Amino acid sequence: MWDFKRFGTAILTLLLASVLAVLAFGADRDTGFSDVDAGAWYAEAVQYCEERELMSGVAASSFAPEGTLTRAQLVTVLYRMEGSPAVTGDDDFSDTDEGKWYSPAVIWAARQGLVSGYGNGLFGVNDPVTQEQLALIFQRYSDAPVTKGIPGFSGTSAPATRAQAAAALMACALAGEQPETLAQAEESRVLAVYFSNTGNTEGIAEHLQAILSAELYCITPETAYTAADLDYTDDSSRANREQANAAARPAISGSVEDMEQYDVVFLGYPIWHGQAPRIISTFLESYDFSGKTIVPFCTSGSSPIGSSAENLHSLAPDADWLEGRRFSGGASYETVEDWISELDLPKTAETGREGGTAMLNISVNGRTLTASLADNSSAQAFRELLAEGPLTVSMSDYANMEKVGALGRSLPANDEQIHTQAGDIILYQGNQITVYYGANSWNLTRLGKIDGIAAQELKDILGGGDVEMTFSLA
Ligand SMILES: Cc1cc2nc3c(=O)[nH]c(=O)nc-3n(C[C@H](O)[C@H](O)[C@H](O)COP(=O)(O)O)c2cc1C
Repeated sequence: MWDFKRFGTAILTLLLASVLAVLAFGADRDTGFSDVDAGAWYAEAVQYCEERELMSGVAASSFAPEGTLTRAQLVTVLYRMEGSPAVTGDDDFSDTDEGKWYSPAVIWAARQGLVSGYGNGLFGVNDPVTQEQLALIFQRYSDAPVTKGIPGFSGTSAPATRAQAAAALMACALAGEQPETLAQAEESRVLAVYFSNTGNTEGIAEHLQAILSAELYCITPETAYTAADLDYTDDSSRANREQANAAARPAISGSVEDMEQYDVVFLGYPIWHGQAPRIISTFLESYDFSGKTIVPFCTSGSSPIGSSAENLHSLAPDADWLEGRRFSGGASYETVEDWISELDLPKTAETGREGGTAMLNISVNGRTLTASLADNSSAQAFRELLAEGPLTVSMSDYANMEKVGALGRSLPANDEQIHTQAGDIILYQGNQITVYYGANSWNLTRLGKIDGIAAQELKDILGGGDVEMTFSLA
């Protein structure tokens, strides 16, 4: 999600002013919608959203600017704006169905903490979005008051109009296009890159995504491979010709957004005649991998990884290459998890944090987990609190991403923009302690991190409801 807070109000004010200027004066052409007058304050925003396929009309020539949009539609446009990242699993709402057009967006939005439903397990798929909800969801998404200044916007429980939603989206998107305002991930991040035509390698990459809270990136060829292209029995098939030509570099469509933020790159490919497909060479030559750790993996019918990974080293010579691993197509989550636990990943990839020492025990649901304390005055104060004796906190589940409960006293805050990962122990609003098992992005204070735990394992231990956690010094 985009992070604006750190860039201060000056940039934001400039930005809002420029968006409003565009909204006011930018439209003097045919909008393509009979109900969107070129001079209307929202005309530019409507066109902006339509051109980028963020929002479309309600009919061929009608946008219905004064119409409402549903909660499912709103999360869907935000999901599109985020590039429709792959999601797995299901959401926990009782009024949503699996496999619907809105399903990936709702799962994504819930995991990002953008929506938490009405608190009774209901999401409200078809409920019109109120202005209040629109403001809150955008605030959570962009960390900026992008609805401020939108004509007719009061932030109340009145329904938001489609025109207002388009204006907020455009403000948000334009802000994201300002290079200075793009969020730099503050955490060590893992990217799971894969090339896959029949889904085998993709399946492994998705396990990595779930286990390591990794971002997923699919290498998409500019020209997709047809079944005939992949016919390895035909010497003249596209794949076979490419493999026979060491200089072949099939073009890739799109690119990794901000590769710089990643410390560890898992790189997955199918074995083609004992080697990585040439498109993997294209990928490696497209970025600077110096200082990054690359972990190759592959799937194959039967061949081992062989020399395929080592032959890639010269294409990213400044990376730290770990030994690769071959999987069969249907390798399980547990198999991938076992592999990761044996890897010598940089500390930050496993724990999302450098420094700190194992100093905490956390007992929950019959299990005892160890954790490290962060290096700040908040963690120090928490340690002093625990020096008085173990502390049991009643914690409730929030937004499918965290357990949160009252500490019973306030600790000093050291808020910073944090992209949470599973196992993060966070101080919220100075007096609440939170253990994350999912991703969020917010201004939070880091207290520590549960050691070496996978997201799914932590989720299983914590369960879906209220828990008691006892924190004590180790
Ligand atoms: C052109 C081509 C060449 C292949 N060469 C090999 C090979 O040398 N050894 C092997 O075990 N499998 C080989 N395979 C099978 C793939 O490695 C295997 O099906 C892989 O899991 C496909 O991954 P994907 O589903 O992610 O595309 C080849 C497949 C293709 C299309």
